[in-house]
Amino acid sequence: MLFKKAEQKQSLEQPITLESVSELSNRVLLDNNQIPKAWFNIVPYLPEKPYPAVLADNTPATFEMLSQLFPIECVKQAGSQEEFVLIPQKIRELYALCNRPTPLQRAFQLEKAIGVDSDRIKIFFKCEFVSPTGSHKTNTAIAQSYYGKQEGIKGFTTETGAGQWGSALSMANSMMGLETKVFQVRASYNDKPGRRVMMQNFGAELHPSPSDITKTGQKFYQKNPKHPGSLGIAIAEAVEMAMTNPGYKYSLGSVLDFVLLHQTVIGLEAQLQMEKIGEQPSVIMGSIGGGSNFAGLSFPFFKEKLTGERDELEFIGVEPCACPSLTKGKYTWDYGDSAKMAPIIKMYSLGANFIPPTVHAGGLRYHGAAPLVSMLKNHSFMKSVMVHQTKTIEAGILMAKTEGILPAVETNHVIAAVIDRALEAQENHQKCTILFNFSGHGYFDTHAYQIYHEGKMIDYEYPDKDIQKAMEDFPPIDENKFL
Ligand SMILES: Cc1ncc(COP(=O)(O)O)c(C=O)c1O
Repeated sequence: MLFKKAEQKQSLEQPITLESVSELSNRVLLDNNQIPKAWFNIVPYLPEKPYPAVLADNTPATFEMLSQLFPIECVKQAGSQEEFVLIPQKIRELYALCNRPTPLQRAFQLEKAIGVDSDRIKIFFKCEFVSPTGSHKTNTAIAQSYYGKQEGIKGFTTETGAGQWGSALSMANSMMGLETKVFQVRASYNDKPGRRVMMQNFGAELHPSPSDITKTGQKFYQKNPKHPGSLGIAIAEAVEMAMTNPGYKYSLGSVLDFVLLHQTVIGLEAQLQMEKIGEQPSVIMGSIGGGSNFAGLSFPFFKEKLTGERDELEFIGVEPCACPSLTKGKYTWDYGDSAKMAPIIKMYSLGANFIPPTVHAGGLRYHGAAPLVSMLKNHSFMKSVMVHQTKTIEAGILMAKTEGILPAVETNHVIAAVIDRALEAQENHQKCTILFNFSGHGYFDTHAYQIYHEGKMIDYEYPDKDIQKAMEDFPPIDENKFL
């Protein structure tokens, strides 16, 4: 349909406008001034009030405590009941510098390659890979860095699994004149030298995690200096570093309510873009690590489902078989980090002790899932599926061959599940318009693709008995005492 419209417009008398070119290339573009002026806050539409973060003594973490760790404005945003939270102009300018609004693209070539009927089954994706560091992570990195600078801090500590988050925060902090200390999960530190250099170019100080420079890291490092690490351990190291370095705060790239809020620029732009071409998605999908890119795309659309306006809308989060927190975890109270220093939150979790195997999708190796996404899953407003990594790499390669972009290994998960969902619709003679988040590019993930080409990729499903064991140790929180 996009092609047909474009053909009608093209004639010798008509100059080629930006719009007609974008239609020819199946891309829907917006102007800089269409960058949203406010983030969308899903809280007023949720089936329950969000749960507070709590401490081990069964009391809610206070505003003062959370503000010592995170930028004060972000802690305030997390408690907001307003539907929209204004985006400061400076952040919008930096979003523009980072190529927002990002294009929306129809995957015509992919549809053709998998053999679905393109009149009935349409696949659209939001191009978050166009950000300078390669993923959606800049959307919250810029915001957190801006608010940290406003309150006069010296710098941020953080963790990174895929290297995408560390790169995004290092870039935002260097633009803002702040320092960055990054704990990079050792498996990703070893596999992605390109990401290391990128962070160093932005001036970041880098440590493979577990490291020997924090008390938390030493516990793991001394037993095994080659410990592959996990996001839970790296988070604990970064939190410890922030608490012991005056002038520093800690920045997290996923899971928290305010991170999800910042990511909603993705969904808000997508709504405008779909409207512009007269389409409406029926299925919305994203890969799930902590849940931020999925939430960023889906939350503005969730409003229609939560208000009953479009009950039929389907939402699917996609996880690796090696770390299926939403699919096989328990909805309960758990620590956000492996050292059990961070506050306890209500979420789907495999247990803070869970050390996932070293699959290539480092950004999806987190033991829990964002509380807001977990709540929606618990109320059956969305579902989750899990996929093996060989299948995801094959999906990524097909994407590259057909649409030209090599996806991040994390993004490959959603692409594999999108193909499954499209084929299911084809088989069931359904009409289906899928919108998914192309969360990042994979030009620094070549190690994973190389392993695949060498025939050495292993599919690993974390055994149920090990998952049960990791889940035996949840903190005994009694929510009746504070709700
Ligand atoms: C490209 C990409 N996609 C997805 C994720 C998963 O994180 P989240 O669920 O917070 O979007 C990551 C995390 O590092 C990532 O780098």
